[in-house]
Amino acid sequence: MKDVYTLADLDDQATLNPEGAKPAKLAVIGHPVAHSQSPQLHQPALDALDIDARYIRLDLEPGELPAAFAKMKELGFVGTNVTVPHKFEALSACTDLDPAAEALGAVNTVLFGDGEDLLGFNTDGPGFVRAIREEFSVDVRDLRIMIVGAGGGAGQALATQCAREGCEQLVLVNRSLEKLETLATRLEPYFESEKLNGPGERLEIYALDSPHLPEIAGHCDLLVQTTSLGLKATDPAPIPSSCLQPHHLVYDTIYQPARTKFLRNAEANGARIANGLSLLLHQGALSFEYWFPGTSPLDAMRKGRS
Ligand code: ATR
Repeated sequence: MKDVYTLADLDDQATLNPEGAKPAKLAVIGHPVAHSQSPQLHQPALDALDIDARYIRLDLEPGELPAAFAKMKELGFVGTNVTVPHKFEALSACTDLDPAAEALGAVNTVLFGDGEDLLGFNTDGPGFVRAIREEFSVDVRDLRIMIVGAGGGAGQALATQCAREGCEQLVLVNRSLEKLETLATRLEPYFESEKLNGPGERLEIYALDSPHLPEIAGHCDLLVQTTSLGLKATDPAPIPSSCLQPHHLVYDTIYQPARTKFLRNAEANGARIANGLSLLLHQGALSFEYWFPGTSPLDAMRKGRS
C-alpha cells in the first residue's frame, strides 16, 4: 500500500484500493504531505468505531484541488482534511462554509455533501478552545492572551479564534511586524467593546525583540507559542525566559519534541505548561465528528497516539 497517493492514483482502483485493504474514503491533502500524522489519528478511530474506511495521504500540486474533490466525490469519499498549502484554495472550492472557516479564511475539513455540495469547516480554532479547556480548565474568552508567532499560519488562526471568542485581551507578537498590522486591522472589530480592567488596549501588537515584552507578558494569563522555533532540538526559545512567570498558563503548539526549550523555561519558572498534542487531538476529533455526526472519536484517537 502506498504511503502517499497522487491525483493520478484516484483513477487507478488497483493502486488506490488494493485487495484486502479497507476502501479509501478519507484523506489528508497537502503538499508535501508525507509527514502528516493525521492517518495515525483518524485510522484508529475508524477502526474502533467499526467504520469500513481507510484514511490516506494525498499529495496534490497547487491547482489540482477542484479535480481531486470531484473525483473523490465520484469514488464515494466521505470527506477530507486539508493542510498546507491548500487551506485557502480549499475555501474557494467549497460551496458552503462554517463561521470558523469564514472568519479564518481557510478550510481544514471538507465534507462531501449531496449533489454539488462541498461543505468547508475549520476545526483549528475550535479545537484550540477545547484543548485549552482540557489542559487548564479555563475558557479562552476569560483570558488575557499573548500569541507568540501570530504572523504565521497557525498563529493567525489561533489569534482569530481568540478574537472570535471575545477574549479579555489579545497581544500579538511576531518577528516581523508587517504581518501583524494586517492581522490587527482584521481583528479590530472584535475588540470594539470595553471589557478590560487593567493596563493596555484590548488588542496590541509587539515585535518579538521588544524590550517591553516581559512587562507585557506579566499582564497576560495565557501565552501561546505558535512559531516553528522548537521543532529542532538546537532551536532557541522565541521569547526570553524573563517573560515566563509562575502565574502563567503556557501552551506550545509544537508536540514533537514534547517539551521545547520554551516549555522547559516556563516550567522552570513555575508556570503551568501543555504541548500541542491536545490541539492535534481536538481539531482531529472535530473533523471526524463532521464526517460522522454523533460519534465520539476522541478516546480512540488518544489511545492511538499513546
Ligand atoms: P507559516 O507558513 O505558518 O507562515 P512559517 O513561515 O514557518 O510558517 O512561520 C511561522 C511563524 O514562525 C511566523 O510567525 C514566523 O515569524 P515571521 O512571520 O517573522 O517569519 C515564525 N518564525 C519562524 N522562524 C523564526 C525565527 N527564527 N525566529 C522568530 N520567529 C520565527
